[in-house]
Amino acid sequence: MSRVVVTGRVPEAALEKLRAEHEVDAWTGPESIGREELLRRVAGADAILSLLTERVDGELLDAAGPQLKVVSNVAVGYDNIDVRACTARGIVATNTPGVLTEATADIAFGLILMATRRLGEGERLIRAGQPWKWGMFFLLGSSLQGKTLGVVGMGGIGQATARRAKAFGMDIVYQSRSEIDSAIAAELGARRVDLDELLTVSDVISLHCPYGPNTHHLIGAEQLSAMKSSTYLVNTARGPIVNEAALAAALREGVIAGAGLDVFEKEPTVHPDLLDLENVTLVPHLGSATIETRTAMAVLAADNTLAVLRGEQPPTPIG
Ligand code: GLV
Repeated sequence: MSRVVVTGRVPEAALEKLRAEHEVDAWTGPESIGREELLRRVAGADAILSLLTERVDGELLDAAGPQLKVVSNVAVGYDNIDVRACTARGIVATNTPGVLTEATADIAFGLILMATRRLGEGERLIRAGQPWKWGMFFLLGSSLQGKTLGVVGMGGIGQATARRAKAFGMDIVYQSRSEIDSAIAAELGARRVDLDELLTVSDVISLHCPYGPNTHHLIGAEQLSAMKSSTYLVNTARGPIVNEAALAAALREGVIAGAGLDVFEKEPTVHPDLLDLENVTLVPHLGSATIETRTAMAVLAADNTLAVLRGEQPPTPIG
């Protein structure tokens, strides 16, 4: 029997799977586990099931000890994990791709609709008790039919967002490290372009690339200026892909029309300048937040852990 440390609350189905084979030490506090507590608890762990709010770095791996075999992130993004530090110690790192694709694309598209149709503004207005009535020019937004969606990062979530956009009558361009499957590109009518072209031709830009040194502030003042003043930017990937101060300035000055953000540079803090703006929709990192999806993510992370502890290949290793 091995010792598995779970760094936060996860659905019971995952814990049951782990408990059937191993001793499980799961943090169940209402708040995130503190760093000191985490460093203390991982000592002697054979496996760590980590949430994206926890930083898994060399210090944590060393605090666990040389018997640690696997770090299973309950997230598709793994910028909270120092994968090199894991590899250097012979520790397998895994994530949860696939199972959250549709839920995250739903939120991306929800934000596209909220931003372009000014739904947040309308909601705030009613809740504030402000007088209103139907008017020919009241809260006019922008249509999606016939417009162009630019997808930055055309992996599973980018493609799922593009599918939704196609159903709304949009044209698709994308920027990605590699060309997508030609049958899928044909079905979506999606054209691969470089980032410069994507920024200038898109009416809505949706970010779906991973976060890392290459994508830090991928969208800053220069990129925002390259966009049309009627363009909307949506980010459901990772906050630091966008320079939030530059985005707030661009939204305030009408450099772009609006934005929808599910992720933030310094979560859970939101740049104060964004909070004052009407033309940005802000939601608190809800991309994968459905009961079904979170359960599937936690179960996949448990399956990854169990496989490595059995000496088998995990279903979804990183890299
Ligand atoms: C959520 O943000 C994830 O990466 O799974």
